Amino acid sequence: MKSHTQSLLAESLNALKQQGVVPADFEARIQVDRTKDKSHGDFATNLAMMLTKAARKNPREIAQLIIDNLPESSHVEKVEIAGPGFINFFIDDNALANQLMDALNSDHLGLTLPESQTVVVDYSSPNLAKEMHVGHLRSTIIGDSVARSLEFMGHKVIRQNHVGDWGTQFGMLLAYMEELRAAANGEQAQMELSDLENFYRAAKVRFDESEDFANRARKLVVALQSGDEYCNKLWREFNDISLSHCHEIYERLGVSLTRADVRGESSYNADLEQVVADLDTQGLLSESNGAKVVFQQEFKNKEGEPLPVIIQKADGGYLYATSDMAAMRYRSNVLKADRALYFVDLRQALHFQQVFKLAKTANFVREEMSFEHMGFGTMNGADGRPFKTRSGGVVKLIDLLKEADIRALDLVRSKNPDMDEAELTEIARVVGIASVKYADLSKNRTSDYIFSFEQMLSFEGNTAPYLLYAYTRVVGIFNRAQDVDLSGATIVLEHEREKDLGTKLAQFGEVMNRVVNKGQPHALCAYLFELAGAFSSFYEACPVLAADNEAQKKSRLLLAKLTAKTLKQGLNLLGLDTLERM
Ligand code: ARG
Repeated sequence: MKSHTQSLLAESLNALKQQGVVPADFEARIQVDRTKDKSHGDFATNLAMMLTKAARKNPREIAQLIIDNLPESSHVEKVEIAGPGFINFFIDDNALANQLMDALNSDHLGLTLPESQTVVVDYSSPNLAKEMHVGHLRSTIIGDSVARSLEFMGHKVIRQNHVGDWGTQFGMLLAYMEELRAAANGEQAQMELSDLENFYRAAKVRFDESEDFANRARKLVVALQSGDEYCNKLWREFNDISLSHCHEIYERLGVSLTRADVRGESSYNADLEQVVADLDTQGLLSESNGAKVVFQQEFKNKEGEPLPVIIQKADGGYLYATSDMAAMRYRSNVLKADRALYFVDLRQALHFQQVFKLAKTANFVREEMSFEHMGFGTMNGADGRPFKTRSGGVVKLIDLLKEADIRALDLVRSKNPDMDEAELTEIARVVGIASVKYADLSKNRTSDYIFSFEQMLSFEGNTAPYLLYAYTRVVGIFNRAQDVDLSGATIVLEHEREKDLGTKLAQFGEVMNRVVNKGQPHALCAYLFELAGAFSSFYEACPVLAADNEAQKKSRLLLAKLTAKTLKQGLNLLGLDTLERM
C-alpha cells in the first residue's frame, strides 16, 4: 500500500509539472510514512512542504493541488490535509482485504515484480589455502539470503564464489604435500589434508625452519605459474580437497552454492597480462619502486598522498586487484550483468572503491552497470574483540556449527522431555543452524556484532527459536481446523487487530524490495519478527476457532493461513528451514 500511495503521488506530481505549477526539472524524493495514530489515516506525506520553494505557494495550497491531481484508486478511501500541509491517506479496508486474497492465491504472495535484471552475487569466496573460519560466515550467509531474494523477485542471479586459489602460499603447500607423500609412499597425504588448518601450520613451520624447503616452495610457484603439468595436478588436488571442505559446510548450513558457482581468482590468470596492457595503452599506469600502479586523484591518505592500486609487482607477480579488474570485465562483458554485488568484509572497502572506479575510467565495464560493495562488520566475541577460541586461535566454522547443534539439542530436549531421539535430533539440527544464521542476518549488515550462543538460542526476542516457534503455532491453528472448508471464503477486516495484521501482511513487497536493492536481509528479519508479533496480538484479541460466526472464523483462518505462508516464505528467503512442530 505504501508503494501504491507513492506511485499515486508521483503521478500527481507529474501532472503538476505538466501544468507548470512545479518546474519540470524539479527532482523530489517522495516520502511516504506510515502514521502512528490511525486517526490521521494510514499513510502521510510531507511532499507539499518539499514543493513550497519550487512552486512558490504555501504548503496547504500545494497539498490541495496534489490531491486534486491524484489518479483514482480503489484502495484509497479518503485523503485529507492536516496541520501545516501534510497529506493523510486513509486506506480502504476492502481493498486491503482484496490484496490479501490475491496474496493467498498467488505464487509470489501477490507481489508486483520489478523489471528482471541479471545480477552477479559474489559471496563466500574463502581462500582455499586455509580452512573456512568464522570470518567467512557473514559473507556466506548474507550473500546467500540476498541471492535467494533476488531470484524470488524475478531476477536472474549468477552466483560467483570468487575463491582465493592462487598466490605464493601455494608453493609452500605443494612442497609440503610432496614431502608428506614421499614419506608415506604416496597415499597418506590425503589424510593430512583433512585438517587444512594444521596442514597449513605445519607447512609454514617447514618453510621457516628449512632453507632447502623454502627454495623448493619457490621453485614450485614458478613451475605452477608457467603451467607445469605436475605442479598443476598437485595444485588441483589440493584445491579440490579444500573446496570439498567448503561444500560440506555449505551443505550443513543450507547454503545454495554449488561447485558450478566456483570461479576463483586463478580463472582470470590468462587475462591478467591483457589487463596490464590495456591500462597501459590508456596511459593509466605509473611506476612506483618498479611496480606498475594506478593513481586516481579521488584516493589519498590522511597526509594527502595519493593511494595507488597496485597492478603488477616489480617481480612480475599480479595482485588481488588485478584479478578483480579481470573479474569485473568478465561480469560486465561476458555475463552481461546489470549489477554485481560483492559481499565482502568492510575492511576491504577502499579496495573496492578503487577498483570499481578504475574499471569505469578504463572502460573495462559497461557504463550503466552497477558495482556494489555490500560490506559487513566483524563478528566479535563476548569481550567485544574479534571472535577467537579460548586459546586465541581462529574458530573453525565447522566447530562452531557442531557446538550450535549440541546446544540446540539440549534446548529442544528440555522443552520436550518425552520426544523420541530421532525427532529431537532433526529439530535440533534445524534450530541450531537457523539460530546461527538468523543471529547474523538479523543484525544490520554494516555493524559489528557480538556472537552469543545464549542470545541466539533464546526463545525471547528477535531470534530463530522465537520465529520458528511462532510458525509452528500458526500452523497448529489449521491442524485444529482441518474440517473447516475454506473454499469460497474471503477475508473481512473488522477488528483493529485484524487490520493491523492485514496491513503488516501487505508490507511484504516493500520489505523485499529493500532486501534486494540494499542487500539488507535484516529488514526481512525485522519484518518477520513484527509479523509474528502482529499475529500474536491478533490471536489474543480475536478468537479464531471460537469466532462469532462461520464467516468470521473462515476469514480469520485465512489470515492465519496467509501469515503462515508469509512466515515460511520469508524464512526460506533467509535460508532457514521451518518445522511443523518443535
Ligand atoms: N578471498 C577474499 C578474502 O577471503 C574475498 C574475495 C571477495 N571477492 C572479490 N571479488 N574480491 O578476503
